[in-house]
Formats: sequence, C-alpha cells, structure tokens
Amino acid sequence: MTIASGSAEGTVRIAVLASGRGSNFEALCSGDTGRGRVALLITDNPGAQVLKKAERLGVEAVYMTPGRYRTRFGIEEEGEWVSFMRSRGVGLVCLAGLMRILKGPILEEYGGRVMNIHPSLLPSFPGLDAQDQALRYGVKVSGCTVHYADDGVDTGPVIVQRVVPVMDYDDVESLSARILEQEHLAYPEAVRLHCSGRLAVRGRRVETCTGS
Ligand code: GRF
Repeated sequence: MTIASGSAEGTVRIAVLASGRGSNFEALCSGDTGRGRVALLITDNPGAQVLKKAERLGVEAVYMTPGRYRTRFGIEEEGEWVSFMRSRGVGLVCLAGLMRILKGPILEEYGGRVMNIHPSLLPSFPGLDAQDQALRYGVKVSGCTVHYADDGVDTGPVIVQRVVPVMDYDDVESLSARILEQEHLAYPEAVRLHCSGRLAVRGRRVETCTGS
C-alpha cells in the first residue's frame, strides 16, 4: 500500500501543466482544493489561452520548451521542468490538457503525486478524441476520470469519476460541454482528497482511509 498524499499538514503547492484553453486550471484555482493551492502554471505552448487566465488570476506562469518532439518531452527538457517545479516547492503536479505523455523525470521525481484528467469513464476511450470515441461507440453514459498518472496513456489508478448521460441529439460539442462541467467539479475534489493525506493506493485501487 502507498499513502499517496504524504503529510497531512501544511499547504500543498500545485503546479498545473497545460497546453491549451485552461478551464480545468481555472477550476483548480477557484474550486475547493482543501490544502492544495495552485502556485504555478507551466505550458509547452507559448500561444496557449491558459497563459492569459493565469495572468488574470495572478498565478505565476511560464512557457518552457518541451524539446523537439511533438507528443513527448525531450529528456533534458523534462528535467528542466522538474528543476523549475522543485525550485518552487511544488508538491503535486496536475496535468490539465497537457498534450504530451510522461515517461521520464517528472514521474521519477513526482511519482504518485501526478494527476491527470480525462474526458471519459476510463478505461473506456483513452487517448485523443475521447468524446468522439464515446459517441461513435454508442454508449449511453460517459463522463470524466481523474487518475494518478503513470507512464501509460490514461492508465493510472482512478481517484474520482463523474458520470453524464449521452443524449440521442448529442454531438461532440454538446457532449464535451456536459462532461467539462463535471470535470470542473471532479478535479478539485480529487486534489482535495489527495491533499487531505487520506488516500491510499492499493494496486489499482485508490481508497480513502477514515481517520482514527
Ligand atoms: C479536458 O477535456 C481534459 O479532460 C483533457 O483536455 C481538456 C482540457 O481542457 N485532458 P481545458 O484546457 O482544461 O479547458
């Protein structure tokens, strides 16, 4: 068993890693994250809308190069992201629409302290275009999943899931909007649970320990 969330006292400084719009970043800044506080935003996209949101919310935000690959980090560059997060006292890393898979230094430094959010009920429809995958498959419910990240694509232990109906009239846009509303509740909830120091990872299962 691994106690995922470390000590149960003090503030947990959160780094959000994002590539685009940043609505989950905003939800993490404004939602009830318990002892968690968003202290830093890092993006791999100098044109990302999330940078403007961070500026408006007064959160330190930086663009850092991810290296020369399109869907993963260069090892050296990923190490630089880690050094920067370490220099800011980051204790929890939240991936929020980061369009890159992690395989190296971030997981080595922050293993068990990296979360991701995905717009489907995992393990269904991992990877890109999850809402489109759900519509094409014809499922009647979908939703979102917050999970601890590992080196697979959307494969780590599940912390929180929220469910939405799929309506006959849905298209990708309408289903994505319904799921996104739930994402904005699920992500702060998962962070709050983690930062309460009461989550335990047993194999694939994330359990909430009750206080004695
Ligand atoms: C969300 O749908 C999230 O589940 C997925 O990427 C999208 C990011 O949206 N991983 P935003 O940038 O947080 O608005």
